[in-house]
Amino acid sequence: MKVAVFSSKSYDREYLERFNNERHELVFFDATLNSHTTSLSLGYEAVCVFVNDHLDPETIKQLQENGVRLIALRCAGFNNVDIPSAEEKEIKVVRVPAYSPHAVAEHAVALILSLSRKIHKAYNRIREGNFSLEKLVGFNLFEKTVGVVGTGQIGAIFCEIMLGFGCRVLAYDPRESDALKQKGVEYCTFDELVRQADIISLNCPLTPETYHLLDKNVFDKIKKGTMIINTGRGAVIKTSDAIDALRSGKLGYLGMDVYEQEENLFFRDLSESIIPDEQILQLITFPNVLITSHQGFFTHEALEEIAATTIKNLSDFEEGRTLENEVRIKKS
Ligand code: NAI
Repeated sequence: MKVAVFSSKSYDREYLERFNNERHELVFFDATLNSHTTSLSLGYEAVCVFVNDHLDPETIKQLQENGVRLIALRCAGFNNVDIPSAEEKEIKVVRVPAYSPHAVAEHAVALILSLSRKIHKAYNRIREGNFSLEKLVGFNLFEKTVGVVGTGQIGAIFCEIMLGFGCRVLAYDPRESDALKQKGVEYCTFDELVRQADIISLNCPLTPETYHLLDKNVFDKIKKGTMIINTGRGAVIKTSDAIDALRSGKLGYLGMDVYEQEENLFFRDLSESIIPDEQILQLITFPNVLITSHQGFFTHEALEEIAATTIKNLSDFEEGRTLENEVRIKKS
């Protein structure tokens, strides 16, 4: 099958080609897929896309006109694809539901420890020959209260790691896990979680319900000095309100692997450009903010799993098998 792979980087090529074994004709494009770039999909049965490709109704309409019959996401989240439009145009959508929940959960922990022990600052200091400890005082995780929003695959692993640190773990998720409760996780309301937690980790998807879930209202309720870690999706936090909360000192630390306006920034080398985003420029100046550009998933193990599942999804479609990883609108 001819597949147009969008937003492709050197590592996508390397891993996908290794697992493809010449089964499909993969053509790699650097371009992001959106309504301005759909012409590249002409003549392809499938497009393979990632988190910042933008498949709105117009893009999907054009894909259908170009003969595309399958959208293969190389990620778990599918908030960037208008699923009702795809269904209406009879284009199937498949994804990689789990590639390495450990990778993302461990990255969230890396952000916590870097911020809590100021590792990012120490690293720069030592490189300049400054071995002073002034202003590097951190805090222990032991006996802190960690609030986990979303206890799916990633959130559950994150809960277990934090229990291992000796933290009290509170969780909010419309679907509670008995297994986690047995391990000591305490489910509560979202309001109770934000009022009690010293560290809040966002591990939920971006949905209409979670869009700007953390806004001024919530920042007003958190404890002074709370740390927030977002490895879910950028728009779960209202960035402008987070900046205000950082300025006032109410929000003590912010670790972000995802960012509301990441689409035009992340995964690119802009080191020789003027960054066209005032909010990220402001965030970069705060000493208590640590940003990584959506690299939570980025481990060797996860890249192998993404490539293997994506190739399987393409082959299942081509050979008419049941699409195990199909994304569909929930029928009520
Ligand atoms: P999952 O589907 O296993 O779990 C998501 C959980 O969030 C579910 O238990 C669901 O009930 C819960 N949830 C839904 N709405 C909620 C709400 N309003 N409040 C609280 N919880 C809610 O998904 P998984 O694999 O754990 O991934 C979670 C999210 O992490 C993904 O949707 C994606 O946005 C993000 N992600 C980020 C990556 C990165 O590299 N930073 C990589 C992979 C995923």
